[in-house]
Order: sequence, then C-alpha cells, then structure tokens
Amino acid sequence: MNKKILVTGALGQIGSELVLTLRRKWGEQQVIASDIRMPPGAGSFADGFAYVDCTNLNQLRDVVRKHDIGAIYHLAALLSAVAEEKPHVAWQVNMDGLYQVLEVAREYGCAVFFPSSIGVFGPGTPRRNTPQDTLLRPTTMYGVTKVAGELLCDYYWSRFGVDTRGVRFPGLISHGAPPGGGTTDYAVEMFHSAVQHRRYRCFLRGDSRLDMMYMPDAIKAVVTLMATPVEKLVHRNAFNVTALNFTPEELAAEIRRHIPDFEVEYRVDPVRQAIADTWPESMDDRVARAEWGWQPDYDLATLTQDMLDHLSNHSTDRTTPI
Ligand code: NAD
Ligand code: SER
Repeated sequence: MNKKILVTGALGQIGSELVLTLRRKWGEQQVIASDIRMPPGAGSFADGFAYVDCTNLNQLRDVVRKHDIGAIYHLAALLSAVAEEKPHVAWQVNMDGLYQVLEVAREYGCAVFFPSSIGVFGPGTPRRNTPQDTLLRPTTMYGVTKVAGELLCDYYWSRFGVDTRGVRFPGLISHGAPPGGGTTDYAVEMFHSAVQHRRYRCFLRGDSRLDMMYMPDAIKAVVTLMATPVEKLVHRNAFNVTALNFTPEELAAEIRRHIPDFEVEYRVDPVRQAIADTWPESMDDRVARAEWGWQPDYDLATLTQDMLDHLSNHSTDRTTPI
C-alpha cells in the first residue's frame, strides 16, 4: 500500500487500539493518528500525529494532501450520553465532521470507514434478533446523527463513488483508553471497579440486556471489512455486527467467578436507562457474516478472563471508590 491512512478521533477508545493494529499491518509511517487532544508524552502516537478538528475542512485537506492519504478511518464523534447532554455540539461534531471528511474523501479519492452504532435503532425497532434492514427511528441525538451518517455515506458512494464502509457496533469493552461517555460504558467501569475496589455503583438497571463486543473483535471487524473486495458488499455502511449480550447482573456474576466478594449497587440514571431501553438486546448479524465473513472470537467467559488479566497486571487508580 503506497497511500497512507488517516485516523480521526485516534486517541479515543477505538482509535488508540486501531492505530496500533493498522501500524502493525501497514507500517509505522503509513498511519497518521489525529485528534483535537494531544497524545500524552512521547509515546508511539507522538510520531505520526496531527492535530485535526474534523469539523475544519482546511485542516482535513492539509493533512490529506501533506501525507498523501488514501483512506480515512473517521472515529471522531460524541457518544450517546454526552450527545444527549450537548445535542448541538453532537450535531456539529458527528454530522458536520462526517460531511467534511466525505467532502475531502471525494476531492482526494480516499476510502472512508464510518462506525455507526446500535444507537440507530429506536423504540419501534424489534429489540430481539434486531434485523439488518428494519425501522430506524431513534429518539436520541446520537442515534439521529448515526442514521443520517449511514445515509450520507450511502449517498457519497452512489453519487460520487467514494468507497464508504461501516458497521453498527454494539457496546465495546476494552482495557485501554477509557470509553468516551456512552450508555454501555458501565461494562468497562464494572471491570475497573471490580479490580480496584471490589464495589461498583451501576447506572443501568441490573436486568438491562444489551449487545456487546470485546475490542479485539471490533478491530478485527474494521480491518476485515476494509479489506473485503468491493463487489462483495451490498450493505456497505450499516452492517449489524455483534458478539454477545448480557445484563449488568450477568456480567457481575461472571466477574464474581474470579472476584467472589465483588458487590454491585444499582442507582439508575434515568437518561442513560431511557437510551438503553430503546437499544437491541441482540442484533441479527447474519448479513455481515455472509457478505464479508464476520465472526467474533470472544464470548463472556473469555472476554472476562482477558479483561481481568490485563487490569490486574496494570492496575491504576483511575476510578473513584463508590
Ligand atoms: P471516544 O469518545 O473514545 O473517542 C472519540 C475521540 O474523538 C476522542 O479522542 C475525542 O477527543 C475526539 N474528538 C472529539 N471531537 C473531535 C473533533 N471535532 N475533531 C477531531 N476529534 C474529535 O469514542 P470511541 O468509543 O473511540 O468511538 C469512535 C467511534 O465509534 C464513534 O463514531 C462512536 O460513535 C463509534 N462507536 C463506538 C462504540 C463504543 O462502544 N465505543 C460503539 C458504537 C459506535
Ligand atoms: N457504546 C456506544 C454508546 O453507548 C454505543 O454506540 O454510546
């Protein structure tokens, strides 16, 4: 591959791991990480890092031109809970940002990866075995921007031939960069609190079942989809992908198999609970499996074991005791 890759929002939960994988695959110099935050210290991100606000067309153009970018992995966005707190900013970052990225991709012939979300679904969508092609009427600003984003990506493909691709991720669980303010963040927080304090106060009801995925599977989905021959893709910007689903009570029970004295208290946040209540309990991802061979590797037992191994080995006090 001669042209380089640009990752926006690269310091976030997904980007911090995707950049490392892409650099291992394509070479250190081939991947430019970008964000509106600066990378901490002089780590690997300090090399090959560019400050890029995705809502700024000139900054995007400059970095794409300067580094001869051929593909943009556009991860910069506000997640569901933050977007509900700041809907105007969410519209600006999630929609204007995507529009500018697509415009630059059109001008310079770049491919685009756009991560959509379970947030595209709403209260009228079937919550169990949620179909690939179904009603998309979300009641959150996050969901509105994700549905519009999927449609905009479809439009840039059909109207301008921009090679856009994307998946609808469920809640993602990882032990690296902390999650950025979503409704499914409780699952990551629960692991950290279990290791550090043996106690967790959960902001969702104990029986709230949601689709989830471990980060190595999410990274595998991105890399596999982007490597798939274009003629195989029908649902190019909106593939349902999932790996497992559980409730907070079930996750706590699995963690207790390793940390028997772990306690969870439930104090429901009505805003995030209302969001969770409109999202799928289990998505049907057979279309992704058929079109590009999607197949997750981790289930609840292996995910839990791996998370606890990593967090126990690198325990840092970044959550407050509760
Ligand atoms: P995150 O919140 O952890 O990271 C987002 C990054 O974007 C942050 O580093 C932030 O500084 C940066 N950013 C914010 N505004 C910006 C701007 N104007 N210009 C450039 N950068 C900006 O998010 P994430 O979890 O890594 O998610 C990445 C993408 O994946 C988002 O589109 C999100 O909606 C989607 N997604 C995530 C999940 C999940 O569970 N993490 C699930 C479904 C979809
Ligand atoms: N994990 C994300 C969120 O909760 C789902 O898109 O916002």
